[in-house]
Amino acid sequence: MSNSIPKGSTLLRRNDFLFGVATASFQIEGATDLGGRVPSIWDTFCATPGKVLGGDTGMPACDHFHRWQQDLDLIKSLGFDAYRFSIAWPRIASESGGWNQQGLDFYERLVDGLLERDIVPMATLYHWDLPQFLEDRGGWINRDTSYRFTDYADQVTRRLGDRVRYYATLNEPWCSAFLGYRLGIHAPGLKDHQLGFQAAHHLLLAHGLALPIMREHAPGAQHGIVLNFTPAYPATESAADVDAASYSDEENSHFFLQPLLTGQYPAAVQERHPEWMPRCYPGDMEIIAQHLDFLGVNFYTRAVVEPGITEDYQSIKQADVARTDIGWEIYPQALTDLLVGFKERYKRLPPIYITENGAADNSPVVDGEVSDRLRLNYYQQHLQAVDNAIAAGVDIRGYCAWSLMDNFEWAEGYSQRFGLVHVDYETQVRTPKMSANWFRDMLYTRS
Ligand code: FCB
Repeated sequence: MSNSIPKGSTLLRRNDFLFGVATASFQIEGATDLGGRVPSIWDTFCATPGKVLGGDTGMPACDHFHRWQQDLDLIKSLGFDAYRFSIAWPRIASESGGWNQQGLDFYERLVDGLLERDIVPMATLYHWDLPQFLEDRGGWINRDTSYRFTDYADQVTRRLGDRVRYYATLNEPWCSAFLGYRLGIHAPGLKDHQLGFQAAHHLLLAHGLALPIMREHAPGAQHGIVLNFTPAYPATESAADVDAASYSDEENSHFFLQPLLTGQYPAAVQERHPEWMPRCYPGDMEIIAQHLDFLGVNFYTRAVVEPGITEDYQSIKQADVARTDIGWEIYPQALTDLLVGFKERYKRLPPIYITENGAADNSPVVDGEVSDRLRLNYYQQHLQAVDNAIAAGVDIRGYCAWSLMDNFEWAEGYSQRFGLVHVDYETQVRTPKMSANWFRDMLYTRS
């Protein structure tokens, strides 16, 4: 199989560049009623008719809760250096305020299993599975949730300490806040602009409050946050389209990144929508803008926008462009542009890890093989885009493919397959796809 990442590529030459695979607890674990786990907002959302395609739920997912050793062997056999996983808050917390040691034991075994296999553990503390009992008290609209997150982060890092080499507080607060509370697409399914922005603030506050405690328990680990970006491009050169694209980036990208790096929400959003701005207490912004050891960047696609009729911007679907099976445009140049743009805008930009990137390619198993050519091309193009950003001077230190294996794709249920490894949900048989074998060959030939 051809290795289309150029030979001189920085990614392959630098032996400290980390290649990983990523997953998230609710998407793979299954066993939603075992080990003392309490229900999460995603269990509730899945049980609400019409919210998740096909009425799919977190069961059985990949049954990783029982098969984790086999899954770690798989990561090792594919040659990856690191595994980015998430810890399920509902496996650790309990409504009475106590902590579920069984849950902590599970993640401790997982981390030790990674270290035994010489795989670097990268843990995310919150990948969207808020305990339902906290949502019942207002969820991310309630400022108290930020403090409850801090207690949870304290428990986890106290137990796992430096054995986890990279901790991310949150995965994609844009999705938790905006898809969950502003647009109603994800759990808990609320639809209100102001609630979306308030949730965003409390998520960022939770991040900032937790960081010092995490550093105290794991002083040798790297501590950061993972954000998602879908950069907007104007539909035409018209001033109105250019303005719509620029505003979309302020609201969707910089509203999350800028407070972390400068302690301020973007002026463009504050000026245009003062009525949506979150309630902040004095000192909140300093808490949010603490030093980050790394920024995790998740990237899948771009948006092409124009002004909406009642909205500030709306995405328009481009005709005749390459798309993945979920319908997202394939546009790798946007990844390079995004990273280079961050370097230009932010003086305090920390080292970057691409913490998620990948494609839905629903190719089936035929004669024991999966020819996921679309995914393979997608990876090759995006690794090239990362390499180009490094060549342009951006400090990028790692890349995690989303995902190790097919899994529960949120509101899309099991209909979209993002894995390097195919999962048969009936038999739980795992079959590495062509893209997985390509990664393995590339990783084994690194100098
Ligand atoms: C990201 C999520 C991840 C996965 C991919 C496809 O937004 O972080 O869990 O669902 O999209």
